[in-house]
Amino acid sequence: RDILVLNGPNLNLLGKRQPQIYGHETLDDVARLCGEACEDGFFIRLEQSNHEGALIDLIHAARETTCGIVINPGAFTHTSIAILDALNTYEPPVIEVHISQVHKREAFRHHSYVSRRADGVIAGLGLEGYAAGVRRICQLKRR
Ligand code: DQA
Repeated sequence: RDILVLNGPNLNLLGKRQPQIYGHETLDDVARLCGEACEDGFFIRLEQSNHEGALIDLIHAARETTCGIVINPGAFTHTSIAILDALNTYEPPVIEVHISQVHKREAFRHHSYVSRRADGVIAGLGLEGYAAGVRRICQLKRR
């Protein structure tokens, strides 16, 4: 059973991009932490794209093949009804993660379209938020 850990725009530069906000760890560290958080019988599939349509295609492809999505939609969080609509075609649990505490940042980061669909929302825990998202999906889907 696969869990999709899906990352939106600019997260390919994690570790290099505004490290005072997002830290020095990279997407490889996200993959490692998610792997460690994953219970036996579950597998992590990590993806990243800077393109809205590509993220939507990955969500569609995940419909039949995964048991949950941990998503950090990056700035598309605040703009993309299309990603919200894609997630609304997806039945298993969805956990929304933000590395930074978006609610203490600019007002335009306070609203999330994705939160209307997400079963859980995590912000400000750094990369631990991804691990927490993975643990939650394992807990919901274990049998
Ligand atoms: C982010 C917060 C967003 O506002 C921002 O556009 C990002 C990253 C986070 O992980 O804190 O790209 O989703």
